[in-house]
Amino acid sequence: MPNQSTCRVCAGTVTEFLDLGDQPLSDAFRLPSDTSTEFTYRLAVGACAECAMVQLMEEVPREKMFHQDYPYLSQGSAVMREHFHSLAERFLSTELAGEDPFVVELGCNDGTMLRTVAEAGVRHLGVEPSGAVGDLAAEAGVRVRKDFFEEATALSIRDQDGPADLVYAANTFCHIPYADSILRGVVALLKPGGAFVFEDPYLGDIVEKTSFDQIYDEHFFLFSATSVDGMARRHGLELVDVERLPVHGGEVRYTLALPGARTPSPAVAALLAEEEARGLHDRAVLDGFADRVRAIRTDLVALLEELKAKGERVVGYGATAKSATTANFCGIGPDLVEFISDTTPAKQHRLAPGSGIPVRPSAAFADPYPGYALLFAWNHAAEIMAKEQEFREAGGKWILYVPVVHVV
Ligand code: SAM
Ligand code: TMP
Ligand code: ZN
Repeated sequence: MPNQSTCRVCAGTVTEFLDLGDQPLSDAFRLPSDTSTEFTYRLAVGACAECAMVQLMEEVPREKMFHQDYPYLSQGSAVMREHFHSLAERFLSTELAGEDPFVVELGCNDGTMLRTVAEAGVRHLGVEPSGAVGDLAAEAGVRVRKDFFEEATALSIRDQDGPADLVYAANTFCHIPYADSILRGVVALLKPGGAFVFEDPYLGDIVEKTSFDQIYDEHFFLFSATSVDGMARRHGLELVDVERLPVHGGEVRYTLALPGARTPSPAVAALLAEEEARGLHDRAVLDGFADRVRAIRTDLVALLEELKAKGERVVGYGATAKSATTANFCGIGPDLVEFISDTTPAKQHRLAPGSGIPVRPSAAFADPYPGYALLFAWNHAAEIMAKEQEFREAGGKWILYVPVVHVV
């Protein structure tokens, strides 16, 4: 009998299809002097038989992940800075073009999106529970409420600021298991013609690219149009637009509105039909994905051991949250990957969670260049490969592991 849990959306039965083993918190970078026992949980993912939502089998308490020292910064990628800047400009000329508009962003992080809104003098509020990143947003001129968004937060915001034209969340809604409280809050907060727009890694891309490292503690849900459509209806909302995005390895931006308030775009029916046609939620498709994930582990470990036997140096590139899943599922430690190069100050001079691989500032990458770089930040491949041309010219090679292990 496979493992089962209760669906966080509909209380139906969730059946496991992939077990990625005991894992640490993906963003808990430790000081080398820290000898305390690391928190671990079982990372496994399943699908609900009733509503199709793909979700983790075990939930990590939110305060363990999102706290004063949460290290991830949205501003760490030039491509993402441009992505959020152009989206903010689009919002300013569409959703926020009316009289005295108001936007609430969940998980505003360092304010990369909202700073453009703030500069335009438009009323806004970033809701961000992680202290240090929220401080960076405030320093950038963004109005921040240090809090977890949930129904009670939404009611309090509505009391203080009035209803919102737009609620927006990037790479945040999928982090929140209490989806029912979020959606009740959104319904209470939105103006009748308002919209809830959110973008998160897309199950369709994860299955197609076998990007199993998108599965980690913070990514509680792996959304699809099918599962989001059902979840929206359950909460008296309607899925009125979907937009596929190339960022972060493939995402979908969903727009929800009150029923009848907006005419659904043809893209919604098209993506629902595409998911149906490819059997995205079929058990056989999810089992096939799990088989390919285990094959990647076998191939990646074999390649790293072969390179080690040849005396080649392999360095990791990008201490992503994703890299925790990859390293710990595959059993990759400092014996196979010397260190991980990363630009994030709060990750540097620490040890990657679980694997204990040291994290060094990017200057270490070129000092001297290794023969091989394992690209943990494969979702930023174009940006990183463009700026690391000297590594290539020095004879360096990139190791990628999605959709299959390959060297370029
Ligand atoms: N939106 C940014 C982006 O896309 O780059 C940041 C994404 S980061 C992966 C997720 C953020 O969500 C973190 O800054 C975290 O503190 C925040 N977060 C987690 N739970 C939240 C909640 N219930 N309400 C608001 N923010 C939350
Ligand atoms: P993400 O995939 O969750 O956005 O995380 C990307 C990580 O990679 C983050 O820790 C910053 C790091 N990074 C670099 O070290 N160099 C780079 O050029 C880019 C784009 C990211
Ligand atoms: Zn369900």
